[in-house]
Amino acid sequence: MDPEDIAKQIGHPQKGILAADWSVGTATKKFEKFSIPTDGETRRKYRQLLFTTEGLENYISAVILHEETIKQKTDDGVLFTEVLKEKGILSGVRLDIGQEELPGFSPEQITFGLDNIRRRLLEYKNLGAVFAKWRAAYFIGDSKPAREIIDANSTLLAIYSLFCLEVDILPIIEPDVLMDGSHSLEQCAVKTEEVLTRLFQKLSDFKVDRKKILLKPSMVLPGKESGSKSIPSDVASATLSVFEKVVPVDVPTIAFLSGGQTLEEASANLNEIEKMLKPGLWQVTFSFARALQETVLEMWRGHDENWKMSQEKLLENARLCSLARQGKL
Ligand code: 13P
Repeated sequence: MDPEDIAKQIGHPQKGILAADWSVGTATKKFEKFSIPTDGETRRKYRQLLFTTEGLENYISAVILHEETIKQKTDDGVLFTEVLKEKGILSGVRLDIGQEELPGFSPEQITFGLDNIRRRLLEYKNLGAVFAKWRAAYFIGDSKPAREIIDANSTLLAIYSLFCLEVDILPIIEPDVLMDGSHSLEQCAVKTEEVLTRLFQKLSDFKVDRKKILLKPSMVLPGKESGSKSIPSDVASATLSVFEKVVPVDVPTIAFLSGGQTLEEASANLNEIEKMLKPGLWQVTFSFARALQETVLEMWRGHDENWKMSQEKLLENARLCSLARQGKL
């Protein structure tokens, strides 16, 4: 499949992405909260719960898997990527291996994951992946993110994208401007604009074809510790004014991450973005991990007797996101 077609298919008018690519470390922390034992088997079971949910394909166009999960199978021995394909859902894989603080710039981080990237891409493509994901995370502060951090991460995103495109894998590019901190909505807008401007400059320097990428950004929001909460119409207008300025129109699809917002907040904000979006720009949808899953995990708690109602919860959450994706919430 051509990456441009994959990006368009993911941007389906009623659907979005289920980001199920928590690392082993993140999954362990989430599971511990509910005393769920964490090993490869419980992570496999949890992902099986998500992916075998009946009707998921009505709201979800694609699933991002972790490197561990893409090799895992159902109880019946069927690869998860096959289960998803049967439903018409595309599979992809997180290719970055996480962030490390850069000495001299702490706590700011750069993202790792280029080792063996050609071999890993081919291995995951053979297992059914048609896209990949790489996240760069940015803190907002007085002089944060530093120009050097933005440049380093944007360069890494451009290099990763070239390796993906070499084998016709769609690169999902995730510049995540974090909600952590006490910054205002306006400060977030300024920093997001800077991050996205440098990103698109680097992509252009490295001659990455913008029609063959999918952008997974954060919304423009006030910091979690700012003591203020913006109403959806303010979030939407702040987000869209930045994006209209700096995101080229030939990027086919933008899929927002939830970034620690609740399902209600993330979907209300997306809904407003859809309503305000000018025609002729990008497809805009969701690529949520926490907003879609937190309540599902809380309901499951590792117990088989909660399986069915947890799947119903996932479906209900996905349906809400699908309505928001259409601006019909
Ligand atoms: P959240 O929706 O929880 O921000 O996660 C998105 C994601 O894929 C992080 O890399």
